[in-house]
Amino acid sequence: MHTYHSPLDLVRERSPERPVALVRPGAVELAARWFSQNFKGDVFYAVKANPSPWVIRELQRGGVRRFDVASIPEIELVRAHAPDARMAFMHPVKSRQAIASAYSDYGVRTFAIDSEAELAKILDVTGGASDLELIVRLAVEAPGAAYALAGKFGVSTADAPDLLLAARRSTQEIMGVSFHVGSQCMRPSAFQAAMAQASRALVRAGVLADVVDVGGGFPSVYPGMAPPDLDEYLAAIDRGFSDMMVHETTELWCEPGRALVAEGTSLLTRVELRKGDALYLNDGAYGSLFDAAHAKWPFPAKLIRPGEPSSAPLRGFQFYGPTCDSLDHMPGPFRLPEDVQEGDFIEIGMLGAYGVAMTTRFNGFGDLETVEVGDAPMGSMYGLAPRSIPTVKPEADSVVRLPRSKGRRRRRR
Ligand SMILES: Cc1ncc(COP(=O)(O)O)c(C=O)c1O
Repeated sequence: MHTYHSPLDLVRERSPERPVALVRPGAVELAARWFSQNFKGDVFYAVKANPSPWVIRELQRGGVRRFDVASIPEIELVRAHAPDARMAFMHPVKSRQAIASAYSDYGVRTFAIDSEAELAKILDVTGGASDLELIVRLAVEAPGAAYALAGKFGVSTADAPDLLLAARRSTQEIMGVSFHVGSQCMRPSAFQAAMAQASRALVRAGVLADVVDVGGGFPSVYPGMAPPDLDEYLAAIDRGFSDMMVHETTELWCEPGRALVAEGTSLLTRVELRKGDALYLNDGAYGSLFDAAHAKWPFPAKLIRPGEPSSAPLRGFQFYGPTCDSLDHMPGPFRLPEDVQEGDFIEIGMLGAYGVAMTTRFNGFGDLETVEVGDAPMGSMYGLAPRSIPTVKPEADSVVRLPRSKGRRRRRR
């Protein structure tokens, strides 16, 4: 991977034609080191957040050698880049073939379930294996997350006791509980509240858990979202754990994705056209800007222009991506100098989690170059940059209304 001191150096040396993932391996290593030194238990990295091989390498350097995987391709990836790593198959709905291959070909023993049907499937496919580690995923009520994740997976409070009991009876090995408080959780107390719900389910089932897996949800820094210190999350988890009825050897696990990788990648994109306050870029919703479009997150943006730095005042812009789909729109507002123009480069920060991982090749776009840069990320939970990023309020007159013909709202493919 080619290394540049900064994104500006890259633009000075050769204006890249394609969008560029600017990676900061040191930021991922630092985050991994923080979690492995401070979390009082086992840290499993949620591979889905960013499956890049360099990420797997840096995490191991930082002491994270366990991986939460959701598919056979993720298992293959981890095996290729971390051959001795322990993997937990935490997707609560797996195909029979995926279960069989994980168990027999890759030696995976840890499987998440949220239904008796999935438990039956795992027992059937593995021939009633006695060495399974079964983690029951609970649906918990946990306010405070930017992305709720309880809607799709997790056994309900009412059904949890029966499933916990069935899992306990099905394995001689580990039986655990897990949950996900939702991604980008802004309230440490959500973890403690979720642990109290898990504890009540265990008490009602009359079983003890060997593992309490608090899932992911640890936050990163985005404009308008300055999270509490990560220490506060770990303190809430400590309190939650000490209030739970567990035995002496019960293990604590977590599965962070975002918090380990968000700072590790930003995007360098070029302005292909400006129409008022709308900038048409060479990357977008079908590339690395999925969350900027679909969750409307106003990621931090920086003008990268060789020569005289712009002294124009900052104002809010909206972005459009390169595809012909009108959903390829990132409303922002993104804070940039007023004089930004066609040919300028923009760095969009904090895209290491669910950024590059979401890239598609729709409309022939999405081909991304990757280079390493040596400067700091735009925000940081680990002291590399401030823990808050300024935001712009959308001003009524700063948003350009594009002409809409009848039916324009429909997706055009
Ligand atoms: C089972 C599971 N664990 C962990 C994560 C990682 O969550 P986050 O990136 O919010 O830390 C996810 C994200 O969807 C998940 O589904």
